[in-house]
Amino acid sequence: MPRLAVLGHPVAHSRSPAMQNAALAALGLGEEWRYEAIDVAPEGFEERLRGMAAEGFLGANVTIPHKQAALALADVPGEVAREIGAANTLVFAEGGIQAHNTDAGGLLAALPATPLDARTLVLGAGGAARAAVWALVGEGARVEVWNRTASRAATLCAELGGKPVDSPSQSDYDLIVNTTSAGLDGEDPFAQLPLAPAGFAAGQVVVDMVYGAGPSALLREAEARDAAVVDGLEVLVRQGALSLRIWTGREAPLDVMRAAVRA
Ligand code: ATR
Repeated sequence: MPRLAVLGHPVAHSRSPAMQNAALAALGLGEEWRYEAIDVAPEGFEERLRGMAAEGFLGANVTIPHKQAALALADVPGEVAREIGAANTLVFAEGGIQAHNTDAGGLLAALPATPLDARTLVLGAGGAARAAVWALVGEGARVEVWNRTASRAATLCAELGGKPVDSPSQSDYDLIVNTTSAGLDGEDPFAQLPLAPAGFAAGQVVVDMVYGAGPSALLREAEARDAAVVDGLEVLVRQGALSLRIWTGREAPLDVMRAAVRA
C-alpha cells in the first residue's frame, strides 16, 4: 500500500491530506494509497525523511519550515528545485530521494493567462517569492520585486532575475503576486504592503499565494474593483495536482481537489 504524506511543523492546518485523499479516491486509488500529515520539527527532519522509504512511503510533500532542508538532503535534486533553492515534492526512489518543486508550476497553472510580457509585481522575498519569480521570469514576464526588507529583494533578483523596486506604482502592473503573510494575522495588509484598495483596476490579475480561513482582504478589495483574482487555495490545488502526477503518473481531478480544499 503506497503511502504519501506532507511533512511540516506545524502541519495540522494543512488542506493537503483532504485534497490528495479525495483525488486518490476519484482516481480509483483510494483503497490502496493513503496521504497523511506528519508533524516533524527541524531537529528530527532528516532522520524521519531517511526512514520513510522503508515504511512504505512512495513520496511526500514538504512545507514550512522544511523546503530548503528537503532540497539539501535530496540524493537526486531536480533542476527546478535547485534553481529555486527549495523543494516541496519528494519521491523515494531506487536511487534515493528525488526533490522537485511544483510551487512554481502550480502558480503558472493557476494564472488565467500566460504572463508573457506582463508587467508583474511580486511582493515578498521568501521561499514562495523565489518560486514565483523563477516561474514568472522563465515565462517571459517583466518582473519587479518589492520586499519589506529591501536587501532580501535585491539578493533574490541577483540570483533569479527580476528587478528590485522600493516604491512600486500599483497601477503600472498587469499582474500582482503577494507571497507575504502580511494580513494573515487579521491586521490590515494595506498598512504593510505598498498597495491601496483603490489602486486595483479591471484588467489586472491579483494573486494571493497565502491562504487563511476566508478570502483575503487583498483579494476582496481587488475583486471589488473588477480585477481578476486567484487565491492561495487554487495555487495549492495546482501544485498538488503536479505533485500527484509525479507520484501516480495520472492526471489529477482538479474539480474534486478544489471541492476538497474548500470543504
Ligand atoms: P515563505 O517561505 O512562505 O515565503 P518566508 O521565507 O518566511 O516565508 O518569507 C516571508 C515573507 O513575507 C518575507 O518576504 C517577509 O518580509 P521580510 O523579508 O521583510 O521579513 C514577508 N512578510 C512577513 N510578514 C510581513 C508583514 N507583516 N509585512 C510585510 N511583509 C511581511
